Amino acid sequence: MGQTITEKILEDHLVDGDLETGEEIGIEIDQVLTQDTTGTMVWLQFEAMGLDEVQTEIAAQYCDHQTYQFDFKNTDDHRFLRSAAGTYGAYFSRPGNGICHNVHRENFAAPGKTLLGSDSHTPTPGGLGQLAIGAGGIDVTVAMGGAPYYIEMPEIVEVRLEGELPEWATAKDVILEMLRRLSVKGGVGKILEYTGPGVESLTAPERMTITNMGTELGATSSIFPTDEQTEDYLERVGRQEEYVELQPDDDAEYDDQIVVDLSDLEPLIAQPSMPDNVVPVREVAGEDVDQVIVGSCTNGAYEDILPAAKMLEGREVNPTTEMIVAPGSKQASEILAREGWVAEMMAAGVNFSEATCGACIGIGHVPASDSVSLRTFNRNFEGRSGIEDDNVYLCSPEVAAAAAITGEIVDPRDLADELEDLEDPGIELPDEYDASKVDLITPDEAVDDELVKGPNIGDVPLREDLDSDVEGEVLLKMEDNITTDHIIPATQDILMYRSNIEKLSEFTLSRVDDTFAERAQAADGGVLLAGENYGQGSSREHAAMCPMYLGVEAVLAQSFARIHRANLFNFGIVPLTIDEDTYADIDQGDEVEIVDDVHEAVTSGQEEFTIRVNGDDEYTATLDASARERDILAAGGKLAWTKAQAEEGG
Ligand code: F3S
Repeated sequence: MGQTITEKILEDHLVDGDLETGEEIGIEIDQVLTQDTTGTMVWLQFEAMGLDEVQTEIAAQYCDHQTYQFDFKNTDDHRFLRSAAGTYGAYFSRPGNGICHNVHRENFAAPGKTLLGSDSHTPTPGGLGQLAIGAGGIDVTVAMGGAPYYIEMPEIVEVRLEGELPEWATAKDVILEMLRRLSVKGGVGKILEYTGPGVESLTAPERMTITNMGTELGATSSIFPTDEQTEDYLERVGRQEEYVELQPDDDAEYDDQIVVDLSDLEPLIAQPSMPDNVVPVREVAGEDVDQVIVGSCTNGAYEDILPAAKMLEGREVNPTTEMIVAPGSKQASEILAREGWVAEMMAAGVNFSEATCGACIGIGHVPASDSVSLRTFNRNFEGRSGIEDDNVYLCSPEVAAAAAITGEIVDPRDLADELEDLEDPGIELPDEYDASKVDLITPDEAVDDELVKGPNIGDVPLREDLDSDVEGEVLLKMEDNITTDHIIPATQDILMYRSNIEKLSEFTLSRVDDTFAERAQAADGGVLLAGENYGQGSSREHAAMCPMYLGVEAVLAQSFARIHRANLFNFGIVPLTIDEDTYADIDQGDEVEIVDDVHEAVTSGQEEFTIRVNGDDEYTATLDASARERDILAAGGKLAWTKAQAEEGG
């Protein structure tokens, strides 16, 4: 039987298991990436495991989420990360050099290779034919130490692209259309493999906008075949020798198929406050816009900013609107500056930011209260912009620029009818991505050979073996689609404690209930109750580590997002699935007891658990876990488990 691209890459890297949907497989990892929010814990865990050198072909440490140096904490973290990269043999990208996915695609992404990253948008280089997966920090630590990465073999879904994009429709509209159809849960447990005649009309950067935002569908990864467009991009970044041909076999079999006719697409927009709340731009036209931001790992590349710059050439940003361009990498800024586009944008009234995640996680450029912000980003979860009552829309750079010009949401096709000299700027790649590499320090050029830790860098928290008795109060009942931003917000005032779990845990779930941390500590633990898709969003392992630190022993949810579910195992918290009726019957404050001997049940492979509520009513909850996941849980988490494994192996 023929193979899909995903199967070909997985087979090449397979060290354990069979490529059967739902079976656990172990794969070899060629490259890893981490960023400054998740990276400090990655390296502290690397140190705690007693590992002494990176074993993957490439390991790269980026500083992108918290580049502003408000006080010593972020700066200390960056210094620690540089020292860790130097000590253990990783590349180090200095703060301001750009967002991990942008810098990684420019320098390392390669077709046919595997990449594991402690950031949920790691699948971005799928647009270049790389199989790239986001994971929790400790999974990255272990892979960096040379161990396989284990994952349940996902379903492989063919997304067949027909036709070509019409004028003013963009790659962003392709992925917004996918979100409109499938929702933020539609990709869970799946790898989306793009095929069909429409693929060849999309440049590699456009493909990477689509694969980047496959994360919002909950997909494990997204991938494109390779062709002349891939070769062309690799040539322009000066790495043409890394090209490999990757196509599915003619008789490849997929678990499902989705057809998208590109020629049917039009400018789309995701309304507040979920990326799948998608409608045609024309449906919301006329709404006043206070702020426009072009940037992020989704649409912050040279190719994304240039169309906006062209639309603004000779025009001005509307006086009622503020427009910010936040490039995805310094390389993009440097090339745009050399070509004169930065000056053009500044003359039009654009405020140019450093290359950082920044506004995407509410660090800088926080919108005014009760205002509308249009962004080219990938997420608009409520409060993520830095204020609770935000109204963030997601769109293409073209729609964003049209709004900056008019001060309101407008379909760029309608604006083009009005302004005769406004044309669809299309996509244009630079002849050569010829920017300086001074901000990317190679392992050979490392300037440190020992770890440097500032006072805000704490120890890695550890949990004891899983208890036989798991019981406690339902500390919080939450609804569907709770994000990792709800669990541990990524805003500056909170995430500056990312290397100090004792302090960071005080903010756990504070966006849902600001008394949570105090109550959890007073109760000496307990359980959490949630609806569907619990833990969607980022790969942030702090969202499991902090509840663990506060004593949370189990989460009962109707379903879990993939990375967060893995993080719960990695930090010794029992993730149990319950049905809708059980969810409805249990309330916050109820006393829940798992009737079974939990340690024994977990290790023996038991799937159904009995939970007793308030000493009376009994319900069934399910633990769907592989033997390896059960061992990790029983050991109290992955760090303890990995250390024990290493000791056993001598
Ligand atoms: Fe950064 Fe936002 Fe992307 S936080 S990695 S720009 S999703």
